[in-house]
Amino acid sequence: MRIEHFDDIIDRIRYQDRAGFCGPTDSGKTRAMAEVLKHFDDVLLTSPKRKWDWELQPIDDPKAWERQQKRFSRRAYDLKELDRELNAVAREDSGDPVVFLPERMADRRLHHAVLDTPYRIALERGNTMTATDELYYHANGSNFESAAPWLYYTITGGRSDGVGSMYCFQRPVWVPKVALSETQHLIVFFLEEQDDRDTIDARAGKERGGKSPIDWETLRNEDHTFVYVTRRFVSEPLTLDLEKEAA
Ligand SMILES: Nc1ncnc2c1ncn2[C@@H]1O[C@H](COP(=O)(O)OP(=O)(O)O)[C@@H](O)[C@H]1O
Ligand SMILES: [Mg+2]
Repeated sequence: MRIEHFDDIIDRIRYQDRAGFCGPTDSGKTRAMAEVLKHFDDVLLTSPKRKWDWELQPIDDPKAWERQQKRFSRRAYDLKELDRELNAVAREDSGDPVVFLPERMADRRLHHAVLDTPYRIALERGNTMTATDELYYHANGSNFESAAPWLYYTITGGRSDGVGSMYCFQRPVWVPKVALSETQHLIVFFLEEQDDRDTIDARAGKERGGKSPIDWETLRNEDHTFVYVTRRFVSEPLTLDLEKEAA
């Protein structure tokens, strides 16, 4: 396997796959996930922190730029609006991505239920690439099936419905074990805590007492660098070249 550029990773991710982006705040996981999601039709993205920017790069052709802006403009701030946007996408058969930014609620059970709704819709709809910018808001290691049942079904069985999933998270030790083990594509930035690095090392196939297959030293020293981890493979440290993306 040759993984030398970010595009090599994008090429490997299929529609029904699961991809995780893991690193501390400001490492670049949201940006990396957005770049991947731009390549998929019928994205249904949840931002529990209610902040999302596709960071579109202007195109010279004014018509094409207008089309691009329109395609990435769909936003829903509650479940009713989510319904409206998804119906519009279905009617137009456009495949436009929809971004869901639901209000935060003091009632955690209710908030969990709202955050889980896109996953129920995706499984009913089929052929959807689900995503969340903050997996930890949906569930943690001890409440996954009760707090986020549809996310659980999506991650463990969405494949057969053509539903894939991407998620950002800060700490692997907070993430449900099954979510991590079902993740075929992991983009990992530097992790400060030893137990987080141990979790990823184990996932990357490190033998007990053996050497880590991950170049943590480079990840520590260079901003926005990450490794790509998949079954029995770890890439060299890479960065997403934002200027190249803009070109
Ligand atoms: N590859 C990169 N090169 C340069 N700047 C980057 C890169 N990736 C992210 N950034 C910048 O770093 C900041 C944090 O990125 P973001 O993706 O929001 O991080 P996170 O989601 O991990 O908190 C943003 O201002 C973003 O534009
Ligand atoms: Mg982020």
